[in-house]
Amino acid sequence: MKMKIAELPGDGIGPEVVEQGVKAINVVCGKFGHEVEYAFGYVGACAIDRTGNPYPEETHDICMASDAVLFGAVGDPRYDNDPTSKVRPEQGLLAMRKKLGLYANIRPVETFKTLVSKSPLKTDLVDGVDFVCVRELTGGMYFGDKGRKDNGDTAYDTCIYHRFEVERILKLAFEYAMRRRKHLTVVDKANVLESSRLWRQIAQEMAPSYPEVSVDYMYVDNASMQIIRCPKHFDVLVTENTFGDILTDEASCISGSMGLQASASVGEHTSLFEPIHGSYPQAAGKNIANPIATIISAAMMFEYAFGLTEEGRAIRNAVTASIDQGYVTEDLSEGGVSHYTSEVGDWIADYIRNNR
Ligand code: IPM
Ligand code: MN
Repeated sequence: MKMKIAELPGDGIGPEVVEQGVKAINVVCGKFGHEVEYAFGYVGACAIDRTGNPYPEETHDICMASDAVLFGAVGDPRYDNDPTSKVRPEQGLLAMRKKLGLYANIRPVETFKTLVSKSPLKTDLVDGVDFVCVRELTGGMYFGDKGRKDNGDTAYDTCIYHRFEVERILKLAFEYAMRRRKHLTVVDKANVLESSRLWRQIAQEMAPSYPEVSVDYMYVDNASMQIIRCPKHFDVLVTENTFGDILTDEASCISGSMGLQASASVGEHTSLFEPIHGSYPQAAGKNIANPIATIISAAMMFEYAFGLTEEGRAIRNAVTASIDQGYVTEDLSEGGVSHYTSEVGDWIADYIRNNR
């Protein structure tokens, strides 16, 4: 297969971890006989520095002309403590999601056997956890009408959802559940919010079309507790944009490190693959960030964008081997020997090259 990948490292540790993802992709392509070509683009603070725009037209054109996007992170401390800043790196990611129509963000929460002790939660609670969060990504408060009035002393963000937006994300979630353990949890705040009542109404309308799927409904405050109290309850969890943002950070600590959590954003145009961690500016340039989330995102790219499950598995096996053998970055080394980002990337690439 011929594949064209948009490479968008972004800011902070983005370039370091994306480089390791690229290594894994190259080795897999060499091994399985695929031809890969990269197109490099700027997004986030690095794009603002160059063009004034966090998601320049040129980058969008590159994404549209590619089969998949491999993305690192955006964010820069220069903007974090300046609420008056008109332009922000994060706007680049939001614009990219919107313009590529990436309405679904799929965030698997998996655990690695040899790492369960790293979780802040009790081992027996965490061991065997395997669920997927499906987060709506182009609607809700992130994109609703927002602004200031009364001389800037009143601020508002509107949470708005249209039926078609809710239907398409729920359809994806129901179908996902059908391919897994057939259990869907719809998370909302329907006891308070009208937009949540629309979600719940539509979910109830759709449920009879998926008779094999058992559906439960959970308020988001309760869900945030159950994710920690009883994470094995979940198979597929679907929710709106803001709730999904918060719950997936929370869920990431089940596995022991945010540096392990990958994601796929899919929808109308080119799909995008990214680690869920941010730009981690304190570590930028130090070659210490965990590249595994990005490397697993590359595995998701083969699986989701190209339907190449063997290739995805080759990457996943290598990641598991590096963790099992303790060839990891400092966030996972438990005070033992740790390795640099690029070393872990090389180790994983070598493993893919030398193993079936
Ligand atoms: C995420 C991030 C983004 C979000 C930020 C960087 C805009 O936190 O992908 O979860 O809030 O969606
Ligand atoms: Mn987030």
